[in-house]
Amino acid sequence: MAGKRGLVTGAGSGIGRAAAVEFARQGASVAVLDIDEDAAAETAAVIEKAGGRAVAATVDIADEESVRAAVERTVAAYGGLDFAVNNAGMSSRGLLDRTTLDEFERVVRVNLAGTFLCLKHELPVLERGGAIVNVASNGGLAAIPNAPAYVAAKHGVVGLTKVAAVDYAPRGIRVNAVCPGPTRTPGFEKWAAGTDIIAVQEAITPLGRLATPEEAAAAAVWLCSDAASFVTGIALSVDGGRRA
Ligand SMILES: NC(=O)c1ccc[n+]([C@@H]2O[C@H](COP(=O)([O-])OP(=O)(O)OC[C@H]3O[C@@H](n4cnc5c(N)ncnc54)[C@H](O)[C@@H]3O)[C@@H](O)[C@H]2O)c1
Repeated sequence: MAGKRGLVTGAGSGIGRAAAVEFARQGASVAVLDIDEDAAAETAAVIEKAGGRAVAATVDIADEESVRAAVERTVAAYGGLDFAVNNAGMSSRGLLDRTTLDEFERVVRVNLAGTFLCLKHELPVLERGGAIVNVASNGGLAAIPNAPAYVAAKHGVVGLTKVAAVDYAPRGIRVNAVCPGPTRTPGFEKWAAGTDIIAVQEAITPLGRLATPEEAAAAAVWLCSDAASFVTGIALSVDGGRRA
């Protein structure tokens, strides 16, 4: 990734932070974008302390003006854009008939419309040979019980990924999705708190444990790299064998 310029959304925590740190470790310049200003600054500080290059900025991926401005700032800071990881998202839980329309729309707004807005503003400025990764979920490929809005939104992210891959391939741009299984991030730990979800997930995962944020991030970094130069339109599970 040496010399490449990119951005990661939701880079203040979990998979997004791990991806930003790894891109920088491999020599890329990274815009660390998050709705949480302090969290973004913390990730940028980790990168700079390790000798990498990062700028931190706030973005709300559910707000078009905010996304437009964040992409514009990244391009202004680095003079171009070679990769983007659209990772920011939110989880939700609850049986379908107990999910309010407001909650459903909020989850779809952030996870699906937010990814759409990122793609919309990244694709026109991405260099030829550039790559985008959308962080979907195994819930983008199959059901996760009790998460109807999340599963619907993440299936949508996989669909958006495929159509963007096909439409922008003639411009030399690749678009892929990473579909993590349960991954021990701050967001996941909070979602699972007070339940037996972690123990159950460990028991039903062939590799017998949950992913680390670094393991999920590694797939996104690889898909953005030239090592994946003929890979586009895929939804790559990183799930310890669960889909198998
Ligand atoms: N952890 C898992 O088990 C798991 C599994 C499958 C998919 N995912 C997906 O991976 C992505 C990252 O998840 P994580 O577990 O690292 O989460 P996390 O909660 O640890 O981190 C998410 C980050 O996104 C930021 N964010 C939230 N809403 C935002 C918005 N509107 N605009 C900008 N930033 C926003 C948060 O501030 C936070 O820093 C999400 O899209 C999630 O759905 C996670």
